[in-house]
Formats: sequence, C-alpha cells, structure tokens
Amino acid sequence: MESLRVVILAAGKGTRMRSQLPKVMHTVMGRTLLGHVLKASAPLGPATVIVGHGAEAVIQAHADPQIQWVYQREQKGTGHALQQLLEPWQDYQGRVLVINGDAPLVTTQTLTTLAEVPLALVTATLQDPTGYGRVFCKGAIVQQIIEEKDCTPAQKLEQRINAGVYGFSWPELARALAQLTCNNAQGEYYLTEVFDHLKGVVAIAAQEPTEVLGVNDRLQLAQVGHVLRERITHYWLRAGVTIVDPVTTTIEDTVVLNPDVVIEPGSHLKGQTTIEAGAKIGPGSLIEHSHIGRNAEILYSVVRYATIGPETTVGPYAHLRQGAQTGAGCRVGNFVEIKNSHLGDQTNCAHLSYLGDSTLGRGVNIGCGTVTANYDGRDKHRTIIEDHAKTGSNSVLVAPITIGTGATVGAGSVITKDVPAGSLAVARARQLIKLNWKPHWAKQP
Ligand code: UD1
Ligand code: CA
Repeated sequence: MESLRVVILAAGKGTRMRSQLPKVMHTVMGRTLLGHVLKASAPLGPATVIVGHGAEAVIQAHADPQIQWVYQREQKGTGHALQQLLEPWQDYQGRVLVINGDAPLVTTQTLTTLAEVPLALVTATLQDPTGYGRVFCKGAIVQQIIEEKDCTPAQKLEQRINAGVYGFSWPELARALAQLTCNNAQGEYYLTEVFDHLKGVVAIAAQEPTEVLGVNDRLQLAQVGHVLRERITHYWLRAGVTIVDPVTTTIEDTVVLNPDVVIEPGSHLKGQTTIEAGAKIGPGSLIEHSHIGRNAEILYSVVRYATIGPETTVGPYAHLRQGAQTGAGCRVGNFVEIKNSHLGDQTNCAHLSYLGDSTLGRGVNIGCGTVTANYDGRDKHRTIIEDHAKTGSNSVLVAPITIGTGATVGAGSVITKDVPAGSLAVARARQLIKLNWKPHWAKQP
C-alpha cells in the first residue's frame, strides 16, 4: 500500500478564543482539541503536528515519541503552515491527510474513507455556514473554495462548507503549495487556494454534519462539547450503561464504564476513571481519575485520585482525596474525608471523620468524629489501625501511632501512645459527680 502521513495544523493563536491558552490546548470532554484530533487520526498512523503559537506548551501537553513536531515560527496562514514541510519532505512520494487542529469532531471512519480516495476533502451542508470557507463543485468535483471574507454576497449563500480535512498526494500538493499567493482579504497564504491548481478533487460529505464543526470561539467550544456529550452518552447507553439523565451527566472521553453501571443525574465522571460493572454513581457525585469497584455505590460525594473497592458504599457527602483506597465491602459515610489512606476489607468509617496518612486493617470500626492528627506543622505522620480495632466517638489519634489488633479506644480520647492489641485505651479526664450541687448564686446565705 502507498505510504500515508497525517499532518495536523495547530500553530494558530486562536484570537477569537480571547485566551492566554493556545486554541488547540482548550479542553472539551476531557481532552484538548488537538488531543481529540490525535485520537481520531491515531489508527491511520503517527502524526506530524505543525506548531507555532505556544508551541512548547502544546508539545508538553501532548508528549508522545510517535509525534513529529514541526515549527511554523510566524503564522501566515494554513497554506504557509503546510509549506513548512516542503523542505523536510522533498523526497516523500506518498499520500498525506491534512486536518485542522481545531476540528475535534472528525471521526476515524471519515479519515479512513478520505485515505482511500486520491484527492478529496470533507464537506457538509450547514443551515448556517457563517465563518467557513464555501466549497463550489461541479457534480462531486471541487472547482474552488472561497473563504467567507472573500465571498461576494451571492457566494455567501452557498451552504456547502469546507471542514478543513483533506487527502492529497504529497508531490501534487507540494507543487500547488509552491504557487500560493496571499492576494486575499486576510493577506494570508490559504491552504484552500491549492484547489485552484488541483484537478479532480472529490468532495466527500461528512457522515454527520456536526462532524465538521470547527472551534474558533468559546461558543463553538460549547457547541462541540454538546455534540461530544451526546456521542459519548449514546455510546455507553448502547454498551449497557444506564444514564438516567444524559443532559445533567458528564462522562469525559477518557472514562471507561462497564455493563450495568447506573449513573444518576448530576454526576460527573472525569479523567482516567474506570467504573466496574454494577456500580451505582450519584445522584450528585464527582469522580475524577479514580477506580470504582463492582457494585460499589457513590452517593452525593467527591472522589478524586482514589480507589474504591467492590461492594463499598460511599456517602452521602463524603470526600475521598488523593491516595484514598478502600477494600471490599467498606462503608464510608457522611462528612468523612479520607486522604492517602488504605482501608482493609469490611472496614467502616461512617460519620464525621478525617483519616489522613493512615493504614487500616480489616473489619475496623471508626467511630463518629474520629480524627487522625497527622500533621505536626512541619511533617506528616502515619496512623496504623490494625484488624478489628475500634475507635470511640470523638477520638483524636495523634500520629505517628499504632492501634493494635482488636484494641478499643474509648470515646473522647486523645491518644498519643501506641495502644497494644486487645487492650482498651481511655485518655480523658475521669468523670466527677457532685451530689446535690447548685451554682453559687443559688446557694443560701
Ligand atoms: C479554515 C479554512 C476554511 C474552513 C475552516 C474549517 C483556510 C484558509 N480556511 O478556516 O475554509 O472552512 O478552516 O474550520 O484554511 N493554523 C496554523 N497556522 C496558521 C494559521 C492556522 O497552523 O498560520 C492552524 C490553526 O491553529 C487551526 C487551523 O490551522 O487549527 C485552521 O486555522 P483557522 O485560522 O482556524 O482557519 P479558519 O479561518 O477556521
Ligand atoms: Ca478554524
């Protein structure tokens, strides 16, 4: 088969975003705009990305040894961006797919179709074509593309637009690129001017008109987000996930779900998150970069950078932070915060507690309002609570400290020394009773 290279144009500033961030760095549904294009094009082969504005940040955010980065130091238009390859690729004889870096909805399927046609570009007919280059055809063959700013009022009525996704033979494209001028409204070297020189270019309609949407401003970023949200929820619904209210649910593109997961309204699943089969999320939960085990339940809670074991219930109103890890069948209840801590199987921490930098064994019961005092103002220290130990309500465990197997901490204790296995530790003032006591002002003179 003839060799194929993929080029993504990502050097522009994106002035209309009104942002410090280069346009292709804006994220939507868990990936940057460029990240979406890279994902769609990956099955066709490694990409060459043209970078310029904010190049270092763009390269860093998409670090991948497979990607070739080529600089366009000054951004003089999409044609000028591709001209950067004329020298390095002077001996290349194969084909090339060119994709705008701000076209995050393009699909692998459309790119595959494009790869099979010698000379082609992707088009769609839009109700409102404002802002796009208009494609003028004879039958299916492209005659010319005219940018909106260069269109006459009559030309503007054309609704067939250029998606910014093209397939070429490189030697032919290279010859056309060498002839570009900048005699147009924006004084730029337009890639679209190559179609004045190339003959027999086929216009391929996108499968879904939404696939061609480009992002030039934040309104379009939100519109693309809407399309992606729908695409992702439809995918998981078909794969056996219940999503009670797709409109109020966020499932980023990076999330992995399994059959019989149920997602209740107002839940947001983000980043590198996996939810195992049968788990129930929400209503009202945020889960980010976390792993949720089979049949677990997360109700009105925030779980970030954490691992929840199977059959474990979390919430309502719990906060599991970086490095929180629970075993199977645990219960983490309301107003509990857990950070950098490991809970063994069947361990409960049901109300109003803070566990930080701790290791808890199996079958531990943490009483209401237990706090691990893990920070001395300079260093963090660990708390170890061994199997089947219990802490009474309102106890403070001052780390570093170990509560031995099966030990009990009396309610209201401040524990500063290790508690041996099987013992009871009470660290509070003894109760005093004064019989028939009255306040001084109520005493007889
Ligand atoms: C471009 C097309 C237009 C098409 C539209 C689809 C041209 C001249 N016009 O217009 O026909 O309908 O996309 O969305 O190509 N870029 C560079 N270097 C530059 C300029 C741009 O790398 O010097 C990159 C941008 O980062 C962006 C992409 O090329 O990812 C498209 O550039 P943009 O300025 O957004 O083009 P449009 O005006 O949208
Ligand atoms: Ca654009």
